[in-house]
Amino acid sequence: MDYFQLKDGVLHAENVSLAAIAEAVGTPVYVYSRATLERHARVFREALSGLPSIHLAFAVKSNPNLAVLRVLAREGYGADVVSAGEMHRALAAGIAGSDIVFSGVGKTAREMTEALDAGLGQFNLESEEEGVELAALAAARGVRAVATLRVNPDVDARTHAKISTGKAENKFGVAYDAAPAIYARLCALDGLEMRGLAVHIGSQIGDLEPSRQAFLKMGALMESLRSQGLEVTHMDLGGGLGVPYRSGESLPGPAEYGAMVASVARDWGVTVMFEPGRVISGNSGVLVTEVIRVKPGAINPFVVVDAAMNDLARPAMYDAWHDFAAVTPTGETMIANVVGPICESSDTFAMGREIDAVKAGDLAVFRTAGAYGATMANTYNSRPLVPEVMVDGDKWSVVAERIEPAAILATERVPEWLE
Ligand code: LLP
Repeated sequence: MDYFQLKDGVLHAENVSLAAIAEAVGTPVYVYSRATLERHARVFREALSGLPSIHLAFAVKSNPNLAVLRVLAREGYGADVVSAGEMHRALAAGIAGSDIVFSGVGKTAREMTEALDAGLGQFNLESEEEGVELAALAAARGVRAVATLRVNPDVDARTHAKISTGKAENKFGVAYDAAPAIYARLCALDGLEMRGLAVHIGSQIGDLEPSRQAFLKMGALMESLRSQGLEVTHMDLGGGLGVPYRSGESLPGPAEYGAMVASVARDWGVTVMFEPGRVISGNSGVLVTEVIRVKPGAINPFVVVDAAMNDLARPAMYDAWHDFAAVTPTGETMIANVVGPICESSDTFAMGREIDAVKAGDLAVFRTAGAYGATMANTYNSRPLVPEVMVDGDKWSVVAERIEPAAILATERVPEWLE
């Protein structure tokens, strides 16, 4: 459920007309709904009430906007970060260092040092080598880094191959069978306080069975560590729950996910940690765009919009579907290809799709764009970096300014030997 609804024939974010925002800020522009973010954060927390002790860390990569992070901080969420840059955002949003989890397959020594200095709550180690390096950095500072070991359970999440992370051939974590010995060796290091295991098998997961299999395997691994006399007090089950992208599509939601997790982990005797991203942020945002023009095509007309693959990369990267809807729908529909202005054919949002009828100058939105939208934007074709707006009831504010190509050009230099 979200708060992007038609009011008097115009699509609104909460009580604010998207046409008014487009008029004031220009397009393309991402618009987030605070009420939707809060609702999703609460629904997800509520869904896990069957577990005795939980920790929620919002996956910053899904939407790192400072205002978005502030909303989640106020909902009591910690943060899951994968770079020093994300860590500094989470801290700037008011999330305590102790509530931040540092994931990521290539943490550099510099990043780990910054994280230790910020008093980060937990490092999810991706390898024994990383653990040894972190232990040395921590010991040199006279501290112990709190850590879990990320394990690759070799389970197929049955999602898009590019966002699947839990198969043996993927780069993430340590091999399941090698984990007990690695965990034992890491426990013996002075600079580390090993407190558990972490797993994350992929994103946009629409079938709970692979996650259940992975969590069962993690439970068995936890038992085997305990039987070796090793302590396990925390189990990080990652993120990954999918969201519906097409109207009418039905996927298991937080309640089903929570019931599944509780059935597996209720009696583990640990704090169960989660790193939800998309399920919180996905439906909390739309990308507002203007139709530049409609041109005839061999089969269907092309609706050329002013948003492109640099603003919303998901269709080009993962063949992802985002519903396209007019801001002031007439009730008429058309079959069309929706494309951006960038000079490659992958800059295509929809092919041969039935959409609200639109014409040059009309406004439209790509829905479910709050996760992995603005955060993956770039300036390809020397386009501006897309701005972001947050709505709260009747209020709205620009929460990230459009960065114009001139500002980027100003950072570039012609060396004197080329003058
Ligand atoms: N934890 C870890 C360790 C992760 O790698 C991820 C996502 C998450 C949590 C959050 O997953 P979520 O709950 O959002 O599914 N750009 C892609 C998605 C990449 C996901 C990367 N890792 C997309 O647009 O679909």
